[in-house]
Amino acid sequence: MKDVYLLAIESSCDETAAAVVKNGKEILSNVVSSQIDVHSQFGGVIPEVASRIHVENISLVIKEAMMKAHMEYSELDGICFTQGPGLIGSLHVGVQAAKTLAFAHHLPLIPVHHITGHIYANQFVDEIRFPMLALVVSGGHTELVYMKEDYQFEVVGTTQDDAIGEAYDKVARVLGLPYPGGPQIDRLAKEGISAYPLPKPKTDHPLDFSFSGLKSAVIQSLDRLKRNHEELVPANMACSFQEAALQQLWSRVQLALEQYHPAHFVIAGGVAANSRLRELIQENMKQYPDITYTIPPLWCCTDNAAMIGASGYHAYMKQIRATEDVGADPSLEMEFDK
Ligand code: KG4
Ligand code: ZN
Repeated sequence: MKDVYLLAIESSCDETAAAVVKNGKEILSNVVSSQIDVHSQFGGVIPEVASRIHVENISLVIKEAMMKAHMEYSELDGICFTQGPGLIGSLHVGVQAAKTLAFAHHLPLIPVHHITGHIYANQFVDEIRFPMLALVVSGGHTELVYMKEDYQFEVVGTTQDDAIGEAYDKVARVLGLPYPGGPQIDRLAKEGISAYPLPKPKTDHPLDFSFSGLKSAVIQSLDRLKRNHEELVPANMACSFQEAALQQLWSRVQLALEQYHPAHFVIAGGVAANSRLRELIQENMKQYPDITYTIPPLWCCTDNAAMIGASGYHAYMKQIRATEDVGADPSLEMEFDK
């Protein structure tokens, strides 16, 4: 079969990224320009600032990705891009770049859902087996996705309110830690114990998640300690929050494993970089020796374009194409059947 070379572009949040990927598995280049330094000064992502920086960086990032891969546009089979979900202004920059290049070089345009990219990032380290269950945990998503076969996505659990990464970032902020808060809580929690009682949320659907109650409970505990002139041990609060949040994740994963009997379980998204989550999965998956599981390496957990190339390859093979009037879709749905 002929090799497929795709240029992939990602700009859904605060990373401007481009990659060249061969057959969805072999990374020829993967360039990520992060805006974290700028946004951390504001304590979070400022959408207008993010889109402006994307505009400044996108051409350079794409040029570097093509150069590092030693590719000419004439050697490419297509250009894939993140169509959504994400910040509208940020997405728009990547979509316009992809459309312009596809038009100029007469290449097919392949739209990719950001979360499918996070899931297919696992393909860089393991052969994906189906049926597969993915736990997607990021700044914007907390989802359990069941895949009966390639490129068939069924969301079987989702958050009723905040995404887990959002909760990590908010709790970090009230503890006075810089943005992004996830890695900060991860580090601080190692120095503490789970000493503060925090509630277990109830969700309408057993596979759904909820993090806003947990976040509010942390804020209320901090207020109570202050009112009572009691000393706060930040490491213990970080650890208590993290244990409560991750126990909630695992309880849903366990239910889903028992309900769906997948052959493969994977984790994906920025929060999959969390060291305690990785440890918990490793420990708990011992109970399921028949299920293969993958914990992706840190470099492919957070946003990058190689993962868009991994998912884009399957979309390409399934003849999924965007027309030249395609636009960014900040609330793009993942479930479709082609
Ligand atoms: O996937 P990602 O890069 O962007 C989105 O698609 O949202 O995820 C970013 C999120 C942020 O909320 C960040 O705090 C969180 O992932 N994160 C972590 C860790 N590293 C990144 N959360 C917990 N522990 C970590 N080590
Ligand atoms: Zn992401």
